[in-house]
Amino acid sequence: MRDSVLVFGSGMMGCAIGCCAALAHNQVIMYDINESVLEKAHSRVLDNLNILVEQGLQTIEAIEEAKKLISVTNNLEQASERANLVIEAVYENLEVKQDVFQKLDSLLPESVPILSNTSGLRITDISAKTKYPERTLTAHFWLPANLIPLVEIVIGDKSSPELAVRIKEMLTTWGKTPVIVNKDLPGQLANRILQAVIREAVNIVEIGLASPEDVDTAIKMGMALRFPVWGPLEHVDAVGMDICCSVQNSVLPEITNRTHASPLMLKLLEEGNLGHKSGRGFYDWSEKDMDALIKKRNDFIVHALKKV
Ligand SMILES: NC(=O)c1ccc[n+]([C@@H]2O[C@H](COP(=O)([O-])OP(=O)(O)OC[C@H]3O[C@@H](n4cnc5c(N)ncnc54)[C@H](O)[C@@H]3O)[C@@H](O)[C@H]2O)c1
Repeated sequence: MRDSVLVFGSGMMGCAIGCCAALAHNQVIMYDINESVLEKAHSRVLDNLNILVEQGLQTIEAIEEAKKLISVTNNLEQASERANLVIEAVYENLEVKQDVFQKLDSLLPESVPILSNTSGLRITDISAKTKYPERTLTAHFWLPANLIPLVEIVIGDKSSPELAVRIKEMLTTWGKTPVIVNKDLPGQLANRILQAVIREAVNIVEIGLASPEDVDTAIKMGMALRFPVWGPLEHVDAVGMDICCSVQNSVLPEITNRTHASPLMLKLLEEGNLGHKSGRGFYDWSEKDMDALIKKRNDFIVHALKKV
């Protein structure tokens, strides 16, 4: 019987996606090529679920029910016989994903959708070796996927647009907030906007307009507080086209339209200052605590979710 969501790749994202699927009352089968990852997969999914109880977003009863729905396997053939949907979350590598999609395409009947959680690759390329690319889509869950509602559904050149609508409806019943991205372009939707913000944030530091701390403070204590309920296009409508066009005409010539990585970031890279992982980037991480920052971020997301 085809009654399960198969999560293909049980690393960080796979375990968070498995958590979302189980909470939505799906049988969930976690698969991974790496035995040691699989051994930890069950407890990693449970960790994701438990955080939701700790944060007051789910009841203990809902979590107990979800826990019963999760299984782990290294037998892909058996798992494929039960899958009515696959969400792939293996390494971000085109060849690896292409091989995975080709394999799944040959194992699963045409009616079973195969989705990729890729954050940067094109689903059109990932599904290039499949016989039935119309059943493939990107479903990009955002990190931390057990908390963030957004899922970007990207329609590939050969994907079925009807499938995108169906997956959107399904993810909505999972409690997610999916958006449909009509073209398979780099950056999907939200990463294009994020990169535009990062580009100008770095430029402001580069031209000496403000320090990294003040740039981040301006975002955190200013516009970011509005964004949970006030999108940029709602902002334009609220302010009015006349004023916004006039502001664009005076500000856009002043901000960067760079089409490559910034010289400041390339200099930091050359110096070995990769950011938190090397101890220094824009900030000196011997003086800042990344774990505390992540906790603060997650607590704020939960707070905001409870409000909106
Ligand atoms: N980490 C993020 O912030 C984030 C956010 C959104 C999307 N993504 C995307 O999600 C995907 C997974 O990222 P992650 O951070 O969970 O990576 P991860 O390294 O934690 O997990 C990847 C897993 O894939 C498994 N794997 C690799 N090749 C495989 C194969 N052939 N068959 C079965 N399993 C295989 C690995 O053993 C590993 O457990 C990537 O495409 C990534 O771009 C990541």
